[in-house]
This record gives sequence, structure tokens and C-alpha cells, in this order.
Amino acid sequence: MNLGSALGNMMAQATNTASWWKPMQASSHAAAVDTLFNFIMYLCFFFFVLIVGAMVYFIVKYRRKGNGPERTSPIKGNHTLEIVWSVIPGILLVLIFAWGFKDWLAIAVVPANAMEVRVTGQKWNWTFTYPKEGIVSSNLVVPAGQTVKLVMTSTDVLHSFYIPDFRIKRDVIPGKYTVLWFKPEEEATHQIYCTEYCGTEHSNMLSKVKVTSSAAYEAWIANGGEEPGGAGVPLAEKGKKLWEQRGCVACHSIDGSKKVGPSWKGAFGTARQFADGSSIPAADENYLRESILVPNAKVVAGYPGVMPSYQGQLNDKQIEAIIEFMKTLK
Ligand code: CUA
Repeated sequence: MNLGSALGNMMAQATNTASWWKPMQASSHAAAVDTLFNFIMYLCFFFFVLIVGAMVYFIVKYRRKGNGPERTSPIKGNHTLEIVWSVIPGILLVLIFAWGFKDWLAIAVVPANAMEVRVTGQKWNWTFTYPKEGIVSSNLVVPAGQTVKLVMTSTDVLHSFYIPDFRIKRDVIPGKYTVLWFKPEEEATHQIYCTEYCGTEHSNMLSKVKVTSSAAYEAWIANGGEEPGGAGVPLAEKGKKLWEQRGCVACHSIDGSKKVGPSWKGAFGTARQFADGSSIPAADENYLRESILVPNAKVVAGYPGVMPSYQGQLNDKQIEAIIEFMKTLK
């Protein structure tokens, strides 16, 4: 594809910042994707002007002049013209296919030296698990220049993982794994979206990918990821961080307002009425722990039983921190 690449390079914007119509190019895929995109777009501009221009020209040239009846010209056909307008677009289509296939292969085949991170989509947050380090994080942290392979799955419905700055996007499907890879070029923070409508809080299913220096990455790993604080940080404060970072915030307010789930304000120590007619006089640690791990065991009356289980996503320490945080919300 030397001709294609040369054409594309001519038209590509070799910038590393966002333009008014495209996000910044921040991965090794970005330039190639944009080059082909630009090629197809300018090709469309060219034919748009050519075709609409010819149309306008013919409209003016062959418009009805005077009042009398006029015969249209008796054209039977023109083989040369028909071959030209079939063969040229044919060549262009094959060129675009071959070029796109080549770029697609580069994105589809994961390099062998990639570092692996597991991605779990869940209504309505992303969780990133670093299998070797045993770290679970709500943001994706990777060192610049490192090839990263994402092995993705969903615990509930179909989501779609999308990092516009990296030009990568793929469906995240319950019951199977899908794979993406990227190589971030520079230290920066980029937005991650869910780009498949997956329910009420779909638009809040956001995370960040933080591309750091290798030293900062090592320090982050040594700290146990974004596990908030360490010694000296009150449990309740860790709980608040977890509420923000693990997606609780999508469904549970802390100011008493009603969202998908009950507010956490006054959640501890107060009575509960359940959908099945049963009740408890005061929510305690055991009830709250059960509600995090087995959400459908006791569903509060007036709310849909849609909360996913956090079994395996939050450890005991984290559940304690969350309960301590709830206790502060009087
Ligand atoms: Cu998950 Cu939209």
C-alpha cells in the first residue's frame, strides 16, 4: 500500500493535540486510523464536489428555455463512460478495503510482549484487575511506551469499552472475553467511555486511563494501586473514596436524594422495609455486608433489584471501610 500510505501521510495531521473534529492521537494506532479516515473523507469531499458540481452545471445548461415543448436528447448509452465510472470507483473500493484490512490486522493481533490487564464491565462502572500484582482499580494506570493487552468481560449486560484518544473500541460481553491492545505514547490522562447503551446510568459509566512514567507506575503498584490511603487514613475516608471510585456513586446518593438505589444517608441503624414484605428494625453491619455481596437477598421496597454483586470485587477491608463511611452519613 505504498501509494495509499503516501497519499494518506500527505493528508494526515501529524499533531499530538486534539483538533476541532478529532481527539488527540495518543496511541500507536491513532495515526494509522486517522490517515485512512482522512483519506476516505477527502475522497468523499472530492466526489461530492465533482458530482454535485456536474449536476448543477447540467441543470443550468439543459434547463428548459422558452415556452414550447422540447425533446430531451436521444442518448442510447455510452460504453466508455459507463466503464470509466465503474472501474475507477471499483479500484478505489479495493484500495480502501486492502488498506483498512492491513490496519485492522495491526489492531487485531496483540504483540507478544504485552502487559495484561483484565477489564470488567458492570452496571455502571469499569474495574481493572492487574493479575500478577493482584491489584483492583477503577482507573487504568499504565506506563508510557508499554504495550498493554486488555482482556475484557462483563458481569451483566453488553457494554462497550472506548478510548477515543487511542482510537480503540470494542464490545464487552457477558460470558466471553474480548481483547484490545494499545501502546500509549506519552504521559497523560485520557477518558474512557462506555459506548453501548446499558441502562439508566450508562452515561456515567466513565473511567480514566492514566499514562505515567515507569517510576510512577512502579510506585503505584508498590502502593497497592489506588487503594486509598494507608496507615493513618480513617476507614470512613477510605470508604468515601471507594464509593466514588467503584461505581457506588452511580446508584447511591449520600445526600438523601433518590437514585436507582436507596440513598446512603441514614442507611446505618435505621429500619428497612423489603419488597417481599419482611423488614428489619435497624440496618447493621451484617445486613449491609450481605447487601453488597448478595444484593438480591433483601431488596428494599420501592427499588428495582438491579444491583450487581460485588463478590470478588471488594475485599473484606474495603467492605468495612464502606460500612464505616455509611455510619458517618447521619
Ligand atoms: Cu455500560 Cu453503557
